[in-house]
Amino acid sequence: MHLTTRRIMTRKDTIVGAIELIPSAKRLMKSLRDMGYDFAQAVADIVDNSVEAGATLVAIDLEFDGDDSWVRVADNGRGMKPEELREAMRYGAEREYDKEDLGKFGLGLKTASMSQCRCLSVASRWNADRADIAAYAWDLGHIERTNRWEILPIERNGLGPAIREPLKNTTGTVVLWQRLDRILGYKLPYGEAARKRLAQMCREIETHLSMVFHRFLSGESQTKKFTLRVNGNEIEPWDPFARKEAKTRKLDSITIPIEHEGIVGEVQFQPYVLPHQDEFSSRDAFHAAGGPASWNQQQGFYIYRAGRMIQSGGWSNLRAADEHLKLARVAVSFLPILDDAFKINVAKMRVQLPSQIREPVRDKMAPVVKLARETYDRKQPQSVGTGSTLAQRKPLQSASEAPGTTLNSSDMSAAKASRSSSALTLEEWSREMLATATISERPIVESVLQRLRAKLPSRP
Ligand SMILES: Nc1ncnc2c1ncn2[C@@H]1O[C@H](COP(=O)(O)OP(=O)(O)OP(=O)(O)O)[C@@H](O)[C@H]1O
Ligand SMILES: [Mg+2]
Repeated sequence: MHLTTRRIMTRKDTIVGAIELIPSAKRLMKSLRDMGYDFAQAVADIVDNSVEAGATLVAIDLEFDGDDSWVRVADNGRGMKPEELREAMRYGAEREYDKEDLGKFGLGLKTASMSQCRCLSVASRWNADRADIAAYAWDLGHIERTNRWEILPIERNGLGPAIREPLKNTTGTVVLWQRLDRILGYKLPYGEAARKRLAQMCREIETHLSMVFHRFLSGESQTKKFTLRVNGNEIEPWDPFARKEAKTRKLDSITIPIEHEGIVGEVQFQPYVLPHQDEFSSRDAFHAAGGPASWNQQQGFYIYRAGRMIQSGGWSNLRAADEHLKLARVAVSFLPILDDAFKINVAKMRVQLPSQIREPVRDKMAPVVKLARETYDRKQPQSVGTGSTLAQRKPLQSASEAPGTTLNSSDMSAAKASRSSSALTLEEWSREMLATATISERPIVESVLQRLRAKLPSRP
């Protein structure tokens, strides 16, 4: 086996008798439709490409017209020459990537699009001084009939207004989805249910895109700032960290170095503790900060790859979601060089916190979690497991903090010191100890606490 491999390596490419097996276009393309994208995630993958092409404006339009309904993503980026467009249409398109590029697999344009529609047309204008447009389509009907990996050229006179219009005065690319079988597979294509679904899809993409691209929409990422419109409405960024709120606390950022299969990099953690509900500037602001999945599910890590959000909330299996921790949110940033360590998937919807940094991350998050819990509990006296009541706590020393003020570790100790340790209940100590314990210490701490609880008389 080893010898065979060496032979392959030295002879480079040809082996006598080797047989090329081209996948069945019909079967593979259909299976690839089920990679797990939902509508908003699929649109986000197309927008990734626009951002990377230097677009400053991306316009998404949804047109309801029964079976002829369509979705279009049009950008004013640099566009593609015909040969570049043909390569872009290929499953597994080849290209060199920069270190901050959002693309990785050469698949997104095709897999995201075909997960939602049966016909994908891509048209591109690459020269600002000439009106030439190159355009090709993947049509699942054609693939089913021929079982061949063939794209169809769209001649100049075949370009409908939906394609021509956005490219009238600019270079750029138009991605058009037609035959929306996955989204609008209704018996009555012009019925009320189909119409409602399309309207709902508009809201879904607005919510999703305002979240995953918030750094680009707000201009935090200067190099890739862009404007996003959905059916003409400009999308505002949604800031998971409510940084406009005066009482939001920005804690010290943490950098954790990582080495994975010879690649050395670092992961940045920027923790925030959002204000107690009563300390938000308004009820509306509190609700808006809750986010798409609502407060409880939005606690935890917000993982960004080259500035684009991949994960929005959740503790990556380091801990469970907990009502008491819902004010803790942490921005986690890494560059694509660490993709393998984070095990990013093709749809860029999932990452895993690399195993080698899980322990240090847990340790470093303990004070964040603690402060979030204290902020949450501040105005909520409640009974706890042992039957004792939680003492009304002093407000944390935050009145003088300006928006986004950095709260460093000495502030954290001050907050700690501001309460006498003897005032802590057993349940508070338990949480404290569990938050501080490492994974291996936890079972021991838990069993000690259990014995302690059993020993103590329960108080009314
Ligand atoms: N809107 C666009 N403007 C200019 N070039 C584009 C655009 N969309 C796609 N491309 C080109 O087509 C190529 C293929 O896109 P595709 O989304 O399939 O793969 P990718 O972005 O390279 O990787 P990934 O699978 O991670 O998205 C891109 O690398 C880019 O060169
Ligand atoms: Mg892409």
